[in-house]
Amino acid sequence: MEVFEARSRSTLILSLLVFFSLSFRSSSSLSSSSSELQILSAERRIDLASHIIRVVLSLKVQNDGEFPASNVLLAFPPPQAKHLSLIQAAELTGKKKKKSLQPLDVKPSDHADGPNGAKFFSISLRNPLSTGGSVSIEVSYILTQSLEPFPVEISQSEPQLVLYRDGALILSPYTIKQQTTVIRTPTTKVESFTRVEPTTQMRTELKYGPYQDQPPFSYAPILVHFENNNPFAVVEELVREIEISHWGYLQITEHYKLVHNGARHKGGFSRVEYQSRPSISGVSSFKHLLAKLPPRVHSVYYRDNIGNISTSHLRTSYSKSELEIEPRYPLLGGWKATFVIGYVLPLQDFLFESDDGKRYLNFSFGCPIAETVVNKITNKVVLPEGSKNPFAVVPFSVERHAETSYSYLDIVGRPVVVLEKENVVPEHNSHFQVYYDFHLMFMLAEPLMLTSVFFFLFVAAVAYLHMDISIRK
Ligand SMILES: *[C@@H]1O[C@H](CO)[C@@H](O)[C@H](O)[C@H]1NC(C)=O
Ligand SMILES: *[C@@H]1O[C@H](CO)[C@@H](O)[C@H](O)[C@H]1NC(C)=O
Repeated sequence: MEVFEARSRSTLILSLLVFFSLSFRSSSSLSSSSSELQILSAERRIDLASHIIRVVLSLKVQNDGEFPASNVLLAFPPPQAKHLSLIQAAELTGKKKKKSLQPLDVKPSDHADGPNGAKFFSISLRNPLSTGGSVSIEVSYILTQSLEPFPVEISQSEPQLVLYRDGALILSPYTIKQQTTVIRTPTTKVESFTRVEPTTQMRTELKYGPYQDQPPFSYAPILVHFENNNPFAVVEELVREIEISHWGYLQITEHYKLVHNGARHKGGFSRVEYQSRPSISGVSSFKHLLAKLPPRVHSVYYRDNIGNISTSHLRTSYSKSELEIEPRYPLLGGWKATFVIGYVLPLQDFLFESDDGKRYLNFSFGCPIAETVVNKITNKVVLPEGSKNPFAVVPFSVERHAETSYSYLDIVGRPVVVLEKENVVPEHNSHFQVYYDFHLMFMLAEPLMLTSVFFFLFVAAVAYLHMDISIRK
């Protein structure tokens, strides 16, 4: 797809140099192609309230070329592309009250990188955009690990300050006629921010723009330095075992390696001060975490390598359960905690039969702890012994492989479907399914085996008792 405006390489370089003095690597494949699209208006809202950065980009795209266009490209600077956790797009149809969003497919594009190594994603439109036509698109994406603590180390009495880097202008391979960017900070405590006029600050919002007629790949770096005391809870590794037992329950075991990924704690730690002055002491630390579990959960335990931890509270209601877990010590910047949570769920809430007679598990994919980033998650679904042809349906790309696990009385072992994903955010907590074939005969295998063993023992015992082993007659 040729989507770039016919523009000689030198004008492109010149126009970029006019705006900023940035080092610039021109990309032959892109600048030589011609673009027929332009963005009439763009609005970007960046939410920096948590450590998970959520961005919503609203675009109105018009086709000025002579051929219909079926894709729209999005560009990201390399550091953002690297920390991009999730990207979704939808077409906005209808006006005012009848507005609705139709999901669109977004994929990394196979285009060569743009200037300064910009990475492309391609949105496939539902219907090709004809000449002169326009379409409204809403893109939402999530960035992780993109707030840099500064200072890098803080003491117990200091708040946590972080840096956010981005551009005042939206990076795009198209001309943008009109654009604004709004950055929301968690509080009004903003130490400093780069101005690219017009720039305004209103309470917790920084507004960049409106800017008019920006040529493709315009870029104006900005830096925002602000206070963010939200828990930077990162699970370096989460392994979830989801074991299906056809005897009516689902056993979940979750192994966590949690770290506070904010500014590192320096100096000593005073628990007295921490407990007596919670509003100013260790403000960026976290004492407890909230895990949202399904309703009807039971047999919950929470343990670390020392043993069971009793300081967890479970609240259950009709629609959900909440487990509040409290590690043995509060987590300050850079501190880690390793623990295991286990629980049991009724199988009938999660196991169903499909129309073609397969069984399937329908369960949530991500980490149940609120507002956490998981660097790497492994979901292991352990199917009952004798299950055949398992396959998983997941709404996003994951790495898949198969294993076999053995427990008591297993003869052929249980098939395990392993699904792995990196850089996971709460928005990944959608449902996935694992389908498999199963014959009821296998359910009887273990009881039959047990009965035959007992029968054999019984027969042996009877035979022994009746055996005449005396030598005297
Ligand atoms: C921890 O709790 C679980 C579930 O209540 C129990 O099965 C296990 O034996 C306990 N372990 C220890 C070390 O207390
Ligand atoms: C899985 O469960 C979710 C939530 O209960 C439901 O919305 C979804 O339709 C289910 N998916 C399938 C394939 O059953």
